[in-house]
Amino acid sequence: MSDCTRTVDDIKTFLQCWKGYDSQQTASFYDVWAKTYEEDSEKINYRAPNLVVDFLNANYPTSNRGDVQVLDVACGSGLVAKLMLELGFKHFVGVDGSKNMLDLATATGYYKDLRLAVLGTEPLPAESGTYDVVVIVGALRHEHIPVSIIRELCQAAKPGGYVCMSRVDPNSELGDKYKECMEKELRLMEEEGLWSCVTNEEMKNYMIDVSNKQEDKFLVGTMYLYRKSLK
Ligand SMILES: C[S@@+](CC[C@H](N)C(=O)[O-])C[C@H]1O[C@@H](n2cnc3c(N)ncnc32)[C@H](O)[C@@H]1O
Repeated sequence: MSDCTRTVDDIKTFLQCWKGYDSQQTASFYDVWAKTYEEDSEKINYRAPNLVVDFLNANYPTSNRGDVQVLDVACGSGLVAKLMLELGFKHFVGVDGSKNMLDLATATGYYKDLRLAVLGTEPLPAESGTYDVVVIVGALRHEHIPVSIIRELCQAAKPGGYVCMSRVDPNSELGDKYKECMEKELRLMEEEGLWSCVTNEEMKNYMIDVSNKQEDKFLVGTMYLYRKSLK
């Protein structure tokens, strides 16, 4: 039974504990959070899935969405697939490091396959050159998935396929370092001819800054859409 009485302050306190966690510890943390993840996400105004899916919708070709193979990395409970289904996407494979989050995703019935892997310590369990769209929301940040995953996302996409990513900028020095490192990798991969940037956009209201105990300020972030090279 979930605890519907949790306040935003309770959630802020709860989310303090993952500071300094490695990827494995964070995945275990989500095993605990799974029970209240969706209710808590609503309370802290976690808008990333809506913002990213709107961004993808605005920039992805409109035809044949029903045939598109989607890899939803760090799929969590399935919030991204839920929104993509409403836009006509139908075929989803999900990956996540938390068994309990994957159980929630299984219960939705949206996914034809769900795979457990703690990324950063295990390789992305996805066939190379297979997916028309690879999407990752809410997990490119410190204590979650290291920047090295980005090459694997590109590898999983078909030639000409799309990779849609979002990154939140926590109000900390750590966040800035992640951003720097991610943008360097994106540029490098473009220089190597692996893909090209279709567009990117700032996210103004990603979610309430849970590290700020005094006020309910919003965090910002960035969404990126890349297209894998055809060669
Ligand atoms: C904020 S949730 C986002 C879930 C979903 N994409 C959404 O937007 O609702 C982050 C997800 O990333 C997963 N995660 C965090 N670190 C991970 C890692 N190293 N490998 C795989 N999954 C990870 C968590 O288990 C969790 O489900």
